[in-house]
Amino acid sequence: MGKIILTGDRPTGRLHIGHYVGSLRRRVELQNSGEFDEIYVFIADAQALTDNIDNPEKVRQNVIEVALDYLSAGLDPAKTTIFIQSQIPELCELSFYYMDLVTVARLQRNPTVKQEMALRGFSDSSDGADNKKGTPVGFFTYPISQAADITAFKANIVPVGEDQEPMIEQTREIVRKFNSVYGEVLVEPEILLPENSACLRLPGTDGKAKMSKSLGNCIYLSDSSEEVWNKVKGMFTDPGHLQVSDPGKVEGNTVFTYLDAFCKPEHFEKFADKFIGKKVCFTFHNLDEVKAQYRAGGLGDMMIKNFLYAVLEDTLAPIRARRAEFEKDIPGVYRMLEEGCKKARAKAAQTLDEVRKAMKINYFDDKELIEQQAQSFGNR
Ligand code: TRP
Repeated sequence: MGKIILTGDRPTGRLHIGHYVGSLRRRVELQNSGEFDEIYVFIADAQALTDNIDNPEKVRQNVIEVALDYLSAGLDPAKTTIFIQSQIPELCELSFYYMDLVTVARLQRNPTVKQEMALRGFSDSSDGADNKKGTPVGFFTYPISQAADITAFKANIVPVGEDQEPMIEQTREIVRKFNSVYGEVLVEPEILLPENSACLRLPGTDGKAKMSKSLGNCIYLSDSSEEVWNKVKGMFTDPGHLQVSDPGKVEGNTVFTYLDAFCKPEHFEKFADKFIGKKVCFTFHNLDEVKAQYRAGGLGDMMIKNFLYAVLEDTLAPIRARRAEFEKDIPGVYRMLEEGCKKARAKAAQTLDEVRKAMKINYFDDKELIEQQAQSFGNR
């Protein structure tokens, strides 16, 4: 069995550095490792529409933004099949069959769906006493459609953030159920989480739990250098760290969380000048030394922000430069996506053939079936 990777993103906004450290960076590494037989990365526009049905223009606009983010982060269409979910109708058909394998109660227990429903103010109490919006069925069942996304490509490795763990678990259950009823056709996927705990969920620049467009606390991959600096300058640190000489807290200090996620050993030599203060010049060899100095007092927030800015730009500047190149040929980006969709569709269609056969709904391409039936009805 080959090693097949699949993952995707909802196109509800441009991708930010939380996406980058949470999954995008890893995808590029996996792609370039040469260890995988097939890699699929897709834009989940149909899933995005499950709670944006009245805003198709937003989804459409972000499809190209996300495609540009992918390419600029280093995904290479020669190695990775990049496609758009809605262009693969086979996924709808698979979802329809999988719906019979999942109970309403099981979907209601999915913690990510529960959380997202609360976040969106969806509620479905039948007493009619509330004025909340009802849950779209398509939204409620998106874990099933996600199982279709994964299994259509027989993906066995799904690199995603920890919030997607319940989706992968649900997919595994669907696969086991399908295979036990219809025979071994589908492949159980494994989740691949980010290896650095700071990357599991990068907080927003305001220190809030998650980067989110609505909170306005994101640093986008497509932000200009100036935007990045303004956001870093305004970042949440330790509110009790008033004077440079005061001891500071590192835990819960967003600047240090970002450093944990982005800082590499070579940055200490490269950006040592960021630590030259008015009176003192500190030389640090690693992040632990910086943290120790900050805890002890004597390291100002501006200094660590300067260092973080340099560290972030080390990653973001090349991404920004590549984006500028791809932006010059937008029709070329659409052609790349169209090619990806063609390839992806061929693979999904092959799996769907096997699924239909296993489910005994392949009436016309099964000569044996027709013969058997003819015999049982006494045809000669
Ligand atoms: N739910 C994922 C997200 O919100 C996107 C997604 C859809 C996905 N289908 C998938 C991710 C299949 C991995 C595999 O980011």
